[in-house]
Amino acid sequence: MIKPPKETKTMTYQKQAPESIKEMFGTIAKNYDRTNAILSFKMHKHWNMELAKAVAHKQEVHAFLDLCCGTGEIAFNYAKLNKGAFELYLLDFTPEMLDIAKSKAKKLHLDGQRIHYIQSDAQKVPLPDEVIDCVTISYGIRNVSNPSLCIREAFRVLRPGGLMGILELTRPKNPFLKFGHTVYLKTILPILGKLMTSNTKAYHYLSQSIQSFQTPENLTKLM
Ligand SMILES: C[S@@+](CC[C@H](N)C(=O)[O-])C[C@H]1O[C@@H](n2cnc3c(N)ncnc32)[C@H](O)[C@@H]1O
Repeated sequence: MIKPPKETKTMTYQKQAPESIKEMFGTIAKNYDRTNAILSFKMHKHWNMELAKAVAHKQEVHAFLDLCCGTGEIAFNYAKLNKGAFELYLLDFTPEMLDIAKSKAKKLHLDGQRIHYIQSDAQKVPLPDEVIDCVTISYGIRNVSNPSLCIREAFRVLRPGGLMGILELTRPKNPFLKFGHTVYLKTILPILGKLMTSNTKAYHYLSQSIQSFQTPENLTKLM
């Protein structure tokens, strides 16, 4: 039997209540894609495509699930890379984000894939066991109250031999880069976030959550 992973020290940092996270994403949803492009100097497009490529299946795909899907960027990249008819599940607990994903999907003319939008918590996925070929979560696991619950749910819905991919913002190890990164997170990012969305709180939260989230090594151990 596989033992569930232990909670690590780095997971115990102060997180916001799920309701306030949902509300916060609701207020920034309309400008989310544009703000991401500016804050990441458009690098997020490349990172997102790298995740979609890393989990792209060589065999036939039946079902794909994107947790904390936001405006659907990862799911739509995945759909472009994997041709054929398969089910595409987009899950997020913020209705405003799902609404934007829906309108983007209409413009993309995805042929073959049937899209299902699920408004739900990523820690309690309303899907049966072993029905999904691939699960992704990008810039999302940092926001859920209990990352191990979310990973457990992903593993529960995955078919044997399925794939899971996590894309997350992290901190550089090189001391010089780390210094520049800290300056960016603490000063530039909140200012740009405020200018673009008038929501200072959301971009302070983004900065704080990146700085305090666990390391990629701990996340790997957790998986
Ligand atoms: C930073 S955005 C990432 C969106 C998208 N994955 C992307 O690549 O741009 C985080 C998303 O996670 C969602 N979210 C946060 N906590 C969640 C939870 N517990 N369950 C479901 N969605 C959640 C938010 O509503 C938001 O849309």
